[in-house]
Amino acid sequence: MFRAGVLFLFACAYCYEDTSTPKPKHVLDTIMSPAYIPTEEKHSSYWKNSAKEHLKLKLAEHHNKNKAKNAILFIGDGMSLATVMAARTYAGQLERGLGEENVLEFEKFPISGLARTYCLDAQVPDSACTATSYLSGVKTKYGVIGLDGNVTRGSCTSQLHKANWAPSIGQWALDRGFDVGLVTTTRVTHASPAGMYAHTSERNWESDADVPEECLSMGCHDIAYQLIANDPGRQFKVIMGGGRREFLPNTTTPDNIGKRLDNTDLLDLWHEDKVGKKATHQYVTDRNELMKVFNSDELPEYLLGLFNNDHMAYHLKAENEPTLEEMVEVAIKMLSRSSNGYFLFVEGGRIDHAHHDSYAYLALDETVEYSKAVKKAQLLTNQEDTLIVVTADHAHTMTVAGYPSRGNDILGIVDTTTGMDGIPYTTISYANGKALSISPEGKRVDVTLNQQFTSRAHDYSYPSLVPLDSETHGGEDVAVYSSGPWSHLFTSSFEQSAIPHFMAYAMCLGDDHHFNCRVRNHHNGFWSSNAVYHRPQIFSIVLMSISAVIVSIRLF
Ligand SMILES: *[C@@H]1O[C@H](CO)[C@@H](O)[C@H](O)[C@H]1NC(C)=O
Ligand SMILES: *[C@@H]1O[C@H](CO)[C@@H](O)[C@H](O)[C@H]1NC(C)=O
Ligand SMILES: [Zn+2]
Repeated sequence: MFRAGVLFLFACAYCYEDTSTPKPKHVLDTIMSPAYIPTEEKHSSYWKNSAKEHLKLKLAEHHNKNKAKNAILFIGDGMSLATVMAARTYAGQLERGLGEENVLEFEKFPISGLARTYCLDAQVPDSACTATSYLSGVKTKYGVIGLDGNVTRGSCTSQLHKANWAPSIGQWALDRGFDVGLVTTTRVTHASPAGMYAHTSERNWESDADVPEECLSMGCHDIAYQLIANDPGRQFKVIMGGGRREFLPNTTTPDNIGKRLDNTDLLDLWHEDKVGKKATHQYVTDRNELMKVFNSDELPEYLLGLFNNDHMAYHLKAENEPTLEEMVEVAIKMLSRSSNGYFLFVEGGRIDHAHHDSYAYLALDETVEYSKAVKKAQLLTNQEDTLIVVTADHAHTMTVAGYPSRGNDILGIVDTTTGMDGIPYTTISYANGKALSISPEGKRVDVTLNQQFTSRAHDYSYPSLVPLDSETHGGEDVAVYSSGPWSHLFTSSFEQSAIPHFMAYAMCLGDDHHFNCRVRNHHNGFWSSNAVYHRPQIFSIVLMSISAVIVSIRLF
């Protein structure tokens, strides 16, 4: 399946001519077949032309200053830059290319920048405080969602204090008449999606069973409850992901999967709420049911899809669960009925989980799935009126290292050399995690003797230096890729908390954006649908008319 490395790269650059002939397998190379440097790449004209093509694209770009009718925020949870590079190489190798020259879908976007991910009290962040950054536009404390830094993690008092609340861009968009939805591959109550709707001083309060008794009696609600019973979650037109167990009482028959102790079936509550609104609605639990809804003549007004009791399965292990790409397609079909536009949040949430278990293979595959979902969103929307922002919440400790040759299996061992101990090492490794690189005898483990490694088992854990039961996040910046209206704002190096403010600016959501939105609405067509912007426009017509009269009087 994979192409192998070019051996003795430097020597062979001279000893082989352009017409490549098979080279001998390296002694360490167990499963790979040889790969060759493409002939055209050996000549400078190739690289000059490549740059020229790119320059042409850059010169043809113009700043799209339209009002963003729709906006989609994609978060690859834990999708560090090393993950992006490894995933693009992996995807390229699956297509039988060398790999390095491949690009993921969002890497084709015209604009990119870098976001700093630290949180108020943490150099290396978690998915809760970062969700508050990129959804509410406020940096807060580790483990906290939808509340500013005036909270103590786990304190119900500070959670109940309304002045501490930091509403999300999901709420801002609803307030302006947009439709809103969320799609994730994790439990819908997990930290990242919870950033869309929850205000909680503890990210782990996913069901009432997780909330301390005294907090419940003070009126602090769990995250699942907030999604179903409170704004803005109640208003979301589409909610898809995993996490059924957080919504069901622990008495539910037949499989008794529910976690709730308050005897409340939140799925019933969701149903009642939509009946109260006289809105059509549908709850689905697997891919077949979802596809039935998708292919039906009339979509329901509200759609809730919970496809797993826990997180959705990894794509490579899923059975009758929709892919992220499929969920994105359904969500866009649902939301694009809105004449006022929509805001959609999409999370590829299991890149992070795979990394935590040092399952590099699964992390890369989940990243490729995420890229497919981005591609689908691009195909289904118009870049003239839809802003798409693709980023990650934080990095991980995975590195791509050594001096593997071009086309070397990204999931394999470095083909050119061994460690000083004479033992081969993997191109991908982790700074910390559960799979130790040192054996109990004090020797570095030889991965080539590990059958799970040599057979490329999905859940082979790549080696790490510091022993931890779960690999940790990384602290470096994450990339932000954007396309569509005002995407040019997302350049340079900025605070992660700027992201929703920039998106809100593009969508004309904030009070402080009137002037720009007036100009832009004027540009887009004079009579904007948003009444707020009419008066200043009429005022400026009157002013212009008066000036015209004065000028005419002066002239004649
Ligand atoms: C900070 O939170 C506390 C509750 O924990 C509250 O009493 C106080 O008023 C808050 N400060 C501000 C500025 O809102
Ligand atoms: C539900 O939880 C309660 C409280 O922990 C426990 O007493 C009860 O046995 C549980 N019910 C089931 C069916 O597991
Ligand atoms: Zn994580």
